[in-house]
Amino acid sequence: MGFITTDLDFKRGIRMPLVSLREVLERAEEGGYAVGAFNCNNMEIVQAIAEAAEMERAPVVIQASQGALKYAGLNYIVSLVRAAAESIRVPVVLHLDHGTDREQVLKALRAGFTSVMIDGSKYPLEENIAVTRQVVEVARPMGVSVEGELGRIMGTEDNIQVDGQEAFFTDPEEAQRFVAETGVDALAVAVGTAHGVYKGEPRLDFDRLKRIRELTRIPLVLHGSSGVPDEAIRRAVSLGVRKVNIDTDIRLAFLQKVREELDRRPEEIDPRRILGPAREAAREAIRYKMRVFGCAGRA
Ligand code: 13P
Repeated sequence: MGFITTDLDFKRGIRMPLVSLREVLERAEEGGYAVGAFNCNNMEIVQAIAEAAEMERAPVVIQASQGALKYAGLNYIVSLVRAAAESIRVPVVLHLDHGTDREQVLKALRAGFTSVMIDGSKYPLEENIAVTRQVVEVARPMGVSVEGELGRIMGTEDNIQVDGQEAFFTDPEEAQRFVAETGVDALAVAVGTAHGVYKGEPRLDFDRLKRIRELTRIPLVLHGSSGVPDEAIRRAVSLGVRKVNIDTDIRLAFLQKVREELDRRPEEIDPRRILGPAREAAREAIRYKMRVFGCAGRA
C-alpha cells in the first residue's frame, strides 16, 4: 500500500503521509481488529513504533501525551512522526493523547496532528459533552478525527492522575447520549483498565463493554492496556474495541534493555550502544502487541 493523504492535505495541496484516525478505524471496523496506539516521547521510541508497523505491515497510531509534548516539544514530536511516516509504507496517524482543553487541541491541529483526543472526563456529563462537541466542530472540517472519553480511567498517564476512588466506569446510556450529541469518531471507555503498572490482574467488565458498543455503535478505545492479558485484549477487540493504547509496556521493554546493556558494559561511553538495543527491544514488544490486536498484516 502506498501513502494515503488526508482530506486536509488534499485541500492544502500538500502530500503528507499521515492519515486520520477515522480512515484507519473504518478499515479496522471492516476487518474486526484493533489498531495499536503507541505512546512516544523520543526519537528511539518513534522509530521503534514505525519499524514495528513496517515489519508487521500494520496501520499504526503514534500518539503523544501531555508529558511527551512537554518533554520533547510539540514541533519535535510532529517532525519525528512525519519523518517516521515518510520512511515507511503503512498508514500512520499522529494522535494527541488526553488533550486537556480546546486551546491545546487547536495547537495540535495547527501543528499537523491528524487526530486528537479531548479528555473532558473530569467534567460532569453536560460539560464534557459541550467541551467535546466544540472540539469536533473545529476538527471535523479539517479532516481531523476526535476521540472523546467518558468515565474515568484509573492510574497516571504522564501528568494526568486519577486515583481508585475517583475513577468510575462508563455508563452505557450516558455513552449513547455522549456519542449522539458530540459526534466523536471514537470513544475511550472506563471498563476496568488503568494507566501504568497493575498491582493485581486487571478485571475487565466485558458486559459493560458489550452494552456500550450496542448503544453507541462506534469504535471504542481501550486505554491503560499495558499488562492486560492477551486473552482479555482479544475479547475486548471482539466486542468492538478498535484502538488499543500502549505506553507502559514500551517503557518497560525499553528500560529493561537499557539496564541490561549498562550492566553488561559499565565502561560504555557511546549512548547509541545502549539506546540502539533498547530501541530494538521496544520494537519487538510493539510487534508482539500488533499481532495480539489483529492489526498485523492489514496494511
Ligand atoms: P498504559 O501506560 O497502561 O499502556 O496506558 C497507555 C494509555 O492508555 C495512553 O493513553
